[in-house]
Amino acid sequence: MDSKIIIAIDGHSSCGKGTLAKNLAKELDYLFIDSGAMYRAVTLYLINENIPLSEVSEDPALLGNIKIHFEFDPERYFFETFLNGENVEEQIRGMEVSRKVSPVSAIKEVRYFLVAQQQEIGKNRGVVMDGRDIGTVVFPDAELKIFMTASSGIRAKRRYEELKKKGVHVNYQEVLHNIRERDHIDSTRKESPLLKAKDAITLDNSSMTKMEQSRLALQWARGVIESLEPH
Ligand code: DC
Repeated sequence: MDSKIIIAIDGHSSCGKGTLAKNLAKELDYLFIDSGAMYRAVTLYLINENIPLSEVSEDPALLGNIKIHFEFDPERYFFETFLNGENVEEQIRGMEVSRKVSPVSAIKEVRYFLVAQQQEIGKNRGVVMDGRDIGTVVFPDAELKIFMTASSGIRAKRRYEELKKKGVHVNYQEVLHNIRERDHIDSTRKESPLLKAKDAITLDNSSMTKMEQSRLALQWARGVIESLEPH
């Protein structure tokens, strides 16, 4: 039987980490976990309960009221996010959560809370997880680490098209501004800033199709898995 590995995919907002992670998981029959969805679910909880961010650091025990789980939809090969039993997949992708999620994810207590859950999910390996600190903090021993990037203009265009297709009314400048702002907060925050792990492979997909990226990453993954097989 093939060895199961952990694939960590980190990178900037909206550069296609999720699509790549999903395609890899599907090909390898692995779990696919979008760690950003967990930060988004915490953000949604704080919005719904009207909890100011300062209160989270003062009373981190309140995070104990947040139960996040994923349910697999085989048709879409997608793990939908549930917050306290409710499917919040749509809500966590909206602009309100997008605007507030970076400051929430910069809170140390929130990170401890979620990183522990992410490590638990990966304890049997056979996981593709995407995020910002997966190769550096969550799974520093991941067998394959990919650092994805693309120019902010290209990322904003892709994100804008995606939202438009879903019928969400936004303008391009707003999306671009949100992406640049998130890049800035994610890269400069004190707790687990977005960093390329020393042993990560960079994948700049500014001029690559989804298919090309998936093929390349799958080649890398199969290479690593083969190298772990006893000869
Ligand atoms: O991947 P995304 O855009 O859905 O992530 C939402 C936010 O969560 C983003 O601003 C960065 C943060 N995040 C993080 O800090 N660490 C992760 N592992 C994943 C996401």
